[in-house]
Amino acid sequence: MIITIDGPAGSGKSTVAKLLAERLNVRFLDTGAMYRAVALAVLQGGAEESDAQAVGKIAGDADIRFDDETITLNGNGVAAEIRTPEVTAISSVVAANTDVRTRLVELQRAVGRQGSLVTEGRDQGSVVFPDAEFKFFVTASVDARARRRHRELIAGGSSLTLATVRTQLQQRDARDENRQHAPMKPATDAVILDTSDMSIVQVVNAITAMVEP
Ligand code: DC
Repeated sequence: MIITIDGPAGSGKSTVAKLLAERLNVRFLDTGAMYRAVALAVLQGGAEESDAQAVGKIAGDADIRFDDETITLNGNGVAAEIRTPEVTAISSVVAANTDVRTRLVELQRAVGRQGSLVTEGRDQGSVVFPDAEFKFFVTASVDARARRRHRELIAGGSSLTLATVRTQLQQRDARDENRQHAPMKPATDAVILDTSDMSIVQVVNAITAMVEP
């Protein structure tokens, strides 16, 4: 059984997908972490994120794995390194690269072939797993998402203002929604959940009720 949970940054989809996978006792795949790992490889390789050919080659050469909730790049755990502001800033540019998407979609489908999975991202229901049994698109107002992201960043020691976080979130949304290849959008058969006024537990309960009626 494949369950896809797509949605924009700050919608809570990662936390929801992880909790849902634990509840259902199936694997969890964070595809955003894979795009972030490519962005990190681009930074490490000293390439310009706008150099499509160089970025495509770096993605093709990189060994990126997401196993047991651990993201590795060329054999090294990079959980913290992929969450820096530098990686976040270029991840949506790198994610618009066609070669990068082709490669990561292959890797994601290979994970899907290994058995039941809750997978989260932007295109999991629309492109990567069009035949998934259950598809959800989790969203929230830009203000609610910016507040959540700001809270997380402050807890992690950042001093960014709410206004800056909101602007960066909107820039990333715009890039993810307007790219040519696999733009962020709900699959036509996805259930859309607006979580602006819902807690994480409420969202997980709502999805569980639909998956396990
Ligand atoms: O969910 P996230 O913030 O970790 O995602 C990082 C970037 O990768 C974000 O800009 C969107 C992009 N992404 C994507 O294009 N497709 C996916 N399936 C997952 C993430």
